[in-house]
Amino acid sequence: MILQPCTASGSALPSGTRVFLREFARAPLRTASVVPSSPALARRMIAPLLGGRVAPVVVELGPGTGSFTAALRAAAPGMRYLGVELNPVMADHLVARFPGVDLLRGPAAELPRALAERGLPAADLVVSGLPWQAFAGPVGSELVATIAAHLAPSGAYTQFTYRWSRWAPPGRRQHRELRRHFGRVDLSPTVWANLPPAVVYTATEPVRPDAPPRPGGEPPERRPAALATSPMTSSSHR
Ligand SMILES: C[S@@+](CC[C@H](N)C(=O)[O-])C[C@H]1O[C@@H](n2cnc3c(N)ncnc32)[C@H](O)[C@@H]1O
Repeated sequence: MILQPCTASGSALPSGTRVFLREFARAPLRTASVVPSSPALARRMIAPLLGGRVAPVVVELGPGTGSFTAALRAAAPGMRYLGVELNPVMADHLVARFPGVDLLRGPAAELPRALAERGLPAADLVVSGLPWQAFAGPVGSELVATIAAHLAPSGAYTQFTYRWSRWAPPGRRQHRELRRHFGRVDLSPTVWANLPPAVVYTATEPVRPDAPPRPGGEPPERRPAALATSPMTSSSHR
């Protein structure tokens, strides 16, 4: 068995990869990966934190075994962190790895309740490792709107997707949803140091729920020129 040290307690945890392999075999669509995300992808996902508030409210949806959680804790030790994880095995792993972490065990759709129960009016950053399946169905289709409605006006929402799957119908739908509920959506260059290589959407300028409805925006494949620059490509629309 592959073991990695749990620095907080001195005990040993199964490696994140082992947990992912087992959970992927059990629930492939919900787990969506056979390995945890890499530190390189984590750096991209938490980038809006750097240079921002000293004590931000950070919500992580689908933290899994904690790749992004570890990066967040290192970058912003003073943050108010809240994780929302559906898979009980992943949740147990996260709590063992980061004792005392504030974690809601349940679906991401419970974000409003989780914030309200803690007296947190809004998040400064929402980091999402959620798979497409979380955005499917009647509850999932509301999720991007829910996230936008619970972000501070200056806040950011980051979501990664695997490079190869960006053009598949669920990937295109996800991008359309982002553009509908945010004034600005930026796309990172490909993070090759991840398995599989991934890209990160950073959505800012959340549209308030009482604002007039926005057009859905044109599908991403009709804007190829806007998707190719580095380091962060803007597909902003106003
Ligand atoms: C691709 S993994 C990402 C894990 C971690 N963020 C990383 O990048 O290594 C997806 C995670 O989302 C969780 N998840 C899936 N559907 C969810 C939902 N509806 N609500 C909360 N978490 C969910 C899975 O259990 C899993 O931990």
